[in-house]
Amino acid sequence: MLKNITLHVVSDYSALSTAAAKLFATYVAANPVGTYGFATGGTPEGMYEELCKMSESGKLDLTKITAFNLDEYVGLAPNDPQSYAYYMENRLFNRTGVPMANRHIPSGIAQCPNTECNKYEELIHKCGGIDLQILGIGTNGHIGFNEPENTFAGQTSHVALAEETINVNARFFDDINDVPRYAISMGMQTIMMAETLLLLASGDSKAKILKEALLGSITPHVPASVLQMHRKLIVIADKAATKYI
Ligand code: F6R
Repeated sequence: MLKNITLHVVSDYSALSTAAAKLFATYVAANPVGTYGFATGGTPEGMYEELCKMSESGKLDLTKITAFNLDEYVGLAPNDPQSYAYYMENRLFNRTGVPMANRHIPSGIAQCPNTECNKYEELIHKCGGIDLQILGIGTNGHIGFNEPENTFAGQTSHVALAEETINVNARFFDDINDVPRYAISMGMQTIMMAETLLLLASGDSKAKILKEALLGSITPHVPASVLQMHRKLIVIADKAATKYI
């Protein structure tokens, strides 16, 4: 049984992108000065494209929001095309006019990653927390870069990528050896503090883990399983990703 979870099953990736963008736009219309959390990776690309189109046609105004991203690779500068900062600039922020001063992503090139983590966590708190956080899910159940572990990661931290994550994310790089081994990621506690969570999942490769995350026991070996305890979790997933639910 899906306790407090609102699950929207849509036909395919295109429908997921439209549904997620529409839902996001509803939240922004209700709170144009809100704080919104963003994910990167393949899943939200279509949603961001929809948001850009909505913004370009005057149906969405992101010029007053504050943005916080989930994570960044350690070692990549913001102008590196593989960095998440670069991804966000090009896929959403520049095209929708999110103010420069309101775009927050952990720095991948901070002298001291641990200090950067603490600063990032403090900044989220200073801004009053996140109103709506977008999430994707890794095939190993990670959320952000909170990888399967023996305990749940708390706050924003400097983390090592799991072998599976390195392998899966290699598709975005020329060579698997180019995939960074470390990242700065919001912790599960940071993520759980957001008012509303919007989890997106698409495709067969996510079907098994989505079932474990939403219906399985809550365990740090499937970090996404803790989302079951959130007071407001909305899931938009396509038929392929929900075939075992
Ligand atoms: C990205 C992130 C990751 C991805 C996850 C799924 O900022 O936090 O947790 O959401 O790895 O990635 P895709 O969407 O590429 O399958």
